[in-house]
Amino acid sequence: MLHQRDWQGLWLGYPAAWAGKALYFRRPFEIVKPVAQGRVYVAGIGCHELRLNGAKVGDAVLEPAQTCYDHRVLYVTHDVTARLRRGKNVIGVIVGNGWYGTCRLLLELHIRHTDGSEMKIVTEPGSFTWTVGTGPVVHHGIYDGETYDARLADDGWDTPAYSASFAHGGGHDKRRRNMTWIPVQAATPPGGVLAAQNVEPMRVVQTRLPKVLRPKPRHYVLDMRQNMAGWVRLRVRARRGTAISLRFAETLRKDGTVNQDNLTVARTPDTYIARGGGVELWEPRFTYHGFRYVQVEGLSRPPRPADFAGRVVRTHTPVRGEFDCDNPLLRRIHKAIVWTEAGNQHGLPTDCPQRAERMGWLNDLTARAEMAVMNFDVSRLYAKFAKDIADAQAHDGALADTAPHRWGFYPCDPVCIALLNLPLLVYAHWGDDVPLRTHYDAMSRWVSCLQARSEGGLLRLSRWGDWSEPSGSPTTLLPPNSRRTPGELVSTAFLYHHANLLARAAAIVGRRSDVRKHQALAAGVRLAFNRRFWNERRGVYGTGSQACNALAVALGLANPAQAQQALKALADDIIAAGYHLSTGNIATKYALEALSENGYHEVACRVAASRTYPSWGFMLSKGATTIWERWEHATGDSMNSHNHPMLASVGSWFYKHLAGLRLHPQAVGSDRLLIAPAPAAGLSRAQARLQTPLGEASVAWRASRGEMLADVTVPCGASASVLLPPGEASESGAVLAGGRLPPGIRRVVVAGGAVRADIQSGDYRFSVRLANPLTPAAARQ
Ligand code: BGC
Repeated sequence: MLHQRDWQGLWLGYPAAWAGKALYFRRPFEIVKPVAQGRVYVAGIGCHELRLNGAKVGDAVLEPAQTCYDHRVLYVTHDVTARLRRGKNVIGVIVGNGWYGTCRLLLELHIRHTDGSEMKIVTEPGSFTWTVGTGPVVHHGIYDGETYDARLADDGWDTPAYSASFAHGGGHDKRRRNMTWIPVQAATPPGGVLAAQNVEPMRVVQTRLPKVLRPKPRHYVLDMRQNMAGWVRLRVRARRGTAISLRFAETLRKDGTVNQDNLTVARTPDTYIARGGGVELWEPRFTYHGFRYVQVEGLSRPPRPADFAGRVVRTHTPVRGEFDCDNPLLRRIHKAIVWTEAGNQHGLPTDCPQRAERMGWLNDLTARAEMAVMNFDVSRLYAKFAKDIADAQAHDGALADTAPHRWGFYPCDPVCIALLNLPLLVYAHWGDDVPLRTHYDAMSRWVSCLQARSEGGLLRLSRWGDWSEPSGSPTTLLPPNSRRTPGELVSTAFLYHHANLLARAAAIVGRRSDVRKHQALAAGVRLAFNRRFWNERRGVYGTGSQACNALAVALGLANPAQAQQALKALADDIIAAGYHLSTGNIATKYALEALSENGYHEVACRVAASRTYPSWGFMLSKGATTIWERWEHATGDSMNSHNHPMLASVGSWFYKHLAGLRLHPQAVGSDRLLIAPAPAAGLSRAQARLQTPLGEASVAWRASRGEMLADVTVPCGASASVLLPPGEASESGAVLAGGRLPPGIRRVVVAGGAVRADIQSGDYRFSVRLANPLTPAAARQ
């Protein structure tokens, strides 16, 4: 179904009176000849569950991924050959509101018989072959939970044995029916083109059994022991009509009951109303929650953990990275980061999974994207999201703060680099240049839109800037706009970054003259930035805040002399604050990277391993199992998501700087690596692995008694530059600076006592007698 004209089916909808309820569509059909192939193409929005002859087709949930529906609607293809029978069959589709907000269905079943003849079943309004009804899903919404009244279900409604009786007479089946059916009606099409869903579907990826807490007599709270996104599958035996409610929350109140204060309007429970008479198993279809705790109400006896399984749900991107080290705190932070990212992949990268928001905020993604890329294979998810961003682009090139655009403004904050950065990351890591080629013009229009708003190279437009910096007190929230770092500085720095990213994109897609144009833009902005923000007397940028200095250095705006002073100021400020950051969602990532890349790795490590406010260790000390939106510990009725990936951006630094594994800036499909194992205080071992399209790349180093050993694997087809810490270096016993090169090593360069070895694919063991031995244990915090 590559072209719009391939579709014969028409969109079906619902009578307005049924708003709030999920719709059940049903189509019986008969097959008279043997089947060679059967495929269903289905676009059921907001989301749908496809069923055939009484059973669900596939294992995906909340299908399809959300999009800007007036631009693009994703359809899903299922091979149902093995599920079709000679004789009578029934297609059933349950459709919920999802992100679209109302139920629409378009479906085609294409059958090819063994004799070559074909048959098609397509959605067509006004026919009596398709019927629509309501059933047990009586209330539902992504934010609103789901209410399932099992008394209203008809067993086998999606099997040939059942016959749908029409609400307005016409029914010929005298058996008692709970569901009522009417002929289908035409619905206004959503407007977007139909496109195949080229992204992993959402699935239940893990099932967790809770611990049951009993804060008060007859009050039960399930503790999943992990902040997660998904829902609960319940198994009950209860009297007919018993309502069992599940209230989800990230934290508990002092009295042990769930605290839903930070969920905004997404506080509605999931409710199951029992049909009675045996064991009943249920999980919702059209909602999800971000939670660790679940308060169960309506039970007559204490819940058993096995009857209330936590179902972890996300877009099923493969896990591609692994990180480990011997510092228990850093390990736990890494684990929390991975859970945070996992809890925020739901058809697009969301900001949070719990409150009534869950949107694709582009500013957060600026910092978070690389962390996601190191941990998950987001190549398809990011290709898909780049389309969502471009779909939401306005005529003047402006992008929206969120894609699909729900909240925020046009144009979005200039820190939003995702339209450029995601395709560049996909190209560098997976070698796919399609997103870059597809969106190059949209990228150019976006950068022109920013440029048009700049004056003399400076960009004043700023909406969020370095959002959510620490307030200064561990439990007091201040408005999240930065008080320390001027928006104009952040925006101008990002105009420069945009111009550089665009120049790189232009070079890759072969627009040579554009490269020069974008480089000229970058040069002009850099000049203006330094004129306006460099303070020669103080040796700092802007206000001298950590974010000002970090951004100027990390994004390449500072010249070497300025960078040295700005870095020193950055490090001094951090040290003076007891090894703490004062940065928000954007600059945090850049601060640690600027330090580690420029000789202050020790300072960065101390920051990352801090346990006091503001730090990731502080969050963990307050029971966090995912990274918070704010540095502060807040649980009230304000913006304080406990599962927010923006401050988890430090996750890429774990790979790149703690383990020392990253891509060369010119890498295509991970074919060039930079490996820089760097022992630091507080750490005597670190390792990372990345699944690349060429195979696994890894580094594992350990340091003790003045010696570092590093095992390095470079997959076939890739090469790497290995930067070793200063000292006497060898590989598999052969001294590196001594004339003959060991096998696989193409070149060795010694600078400032440190060895850089350029290597081809293979397994290597480097060892370095360290010139500056560290005593890791002594420095451990
Ligand atoms: C989102 C943030 C985002 C911010 C920008 C919030 O509501 O949750 O992640 O950075 O809005 O304004």
